[in-house]
Amino acid sequence: MQTLSNAIKKRVSCRTYSDKPIEENIRKKLQSILSATHEGPFGNKTNFKLLSLDFITPDDWKKMGTYGVIKGARNFLAGIISPGPMAMEDYGYCMETVILKVTALGLGTCWLGGTFQSGAFARAAGLQKGELMPTITPVGYPADEKTLTEKIMRRFAGSDQRKSWSNIFFIDDFSHILPENSAGRYREALENLRLAPSASNKQPWRVLYDSKNNVFHFFVERSRQYKMLGISHLQDIDLGIAMSHFEITARELTLPGKWEVITDAPKENNLEYIVSWLNGN
Ligand SMILES: Cc1cc2nc3c(=O)[nH]c(=O)nc-3n(C[C@H](O)[C@H](O)[C@H](O)COP(=O)(O)O)c2cc1C
Repeated sequence: MQTLSNAIKKRVSCRTYSDKPIEENIRKKLQSILSATHEGPFGNKTNFKLLSLDFITPDDWKKMGTYGVIKGARNFLAGIISPGPMAMEDYGYCMETVILKVTALGLGTCWLGGTFQSGAFARAAGLQKGELMPTITPVGYPADEKTLTEKIMRRFAGSDQRKSWSNIFFIDDFSHILPENSAGRYREALENLRLAPSASNKQPWRVLYDSKNNVFHFFVERSRQYKMLGISHLQDIDLGIAMSHFEITARELTLPGKWEVITDAPKENNLEYIVSWLNGN
């Protein structure tokens, strides 16, 4: 059984799927992952549904716009949540945890953020009034060969690249970078956070380590373009994903800690404070 830290290192977005159906024993494991309770650090619960593509007509599929980059997928995983404070962070946290478990089963996935509030996916998932379905992901075996569209898309989003430590991790204030060799026992947790997927690979997470109090403060650098497009919530999901990578790794390394929103968090221009990780029991 591989650890979720390994799955973090292995996971990549898969947009081209093989036509091999999901094996029965893997499908059972998948169902048991999905049917567990999924509660995020802020207390919001996400429900997951496995949808088979049979419900969607080729016409519906064409209307899905950018999701046309997905080829060959027969199954989709939909995440459903009710609105609430920090619901999108919890959603990102829970869905990424599921995605990592699915990766460990040998299956491919790809976060797709968009409007699934109405239309074929919402109907198939039985979405109720007032519920939100901000993303879905295909699930299946990756095909041996990627389509040209997928290759172009990865290149365009710079998907194989991540920002360096010096761009995203700081110590004591934002004018001091936190070098990888100074991160001590948290080096791997931060490195795994750095590998997290994010919408358009924008990597909006910034972390400030307060060495005096032994606390990691998490911030988001909001994209103005996303604000204008009314899709800022995707970056809250990104933050939840980053929190899951960080916490999963810390727990696997048996580093105790907990999430807390603190009232006197440091302030920085252009950054919005989200949450802090308090080291210790
Ligand atoms: C919240 C969110 C929404 C995303 N939406 C899309 C999408 O609509 N279409 C798509 O092809 N990829 C989408 N992605 C995938 C990102 O482009 C991808 O994670 C990023 O480029 C890094 O590549 P990697 O996942 O292979 O590491 C999304 C990712 C996240 C986290």
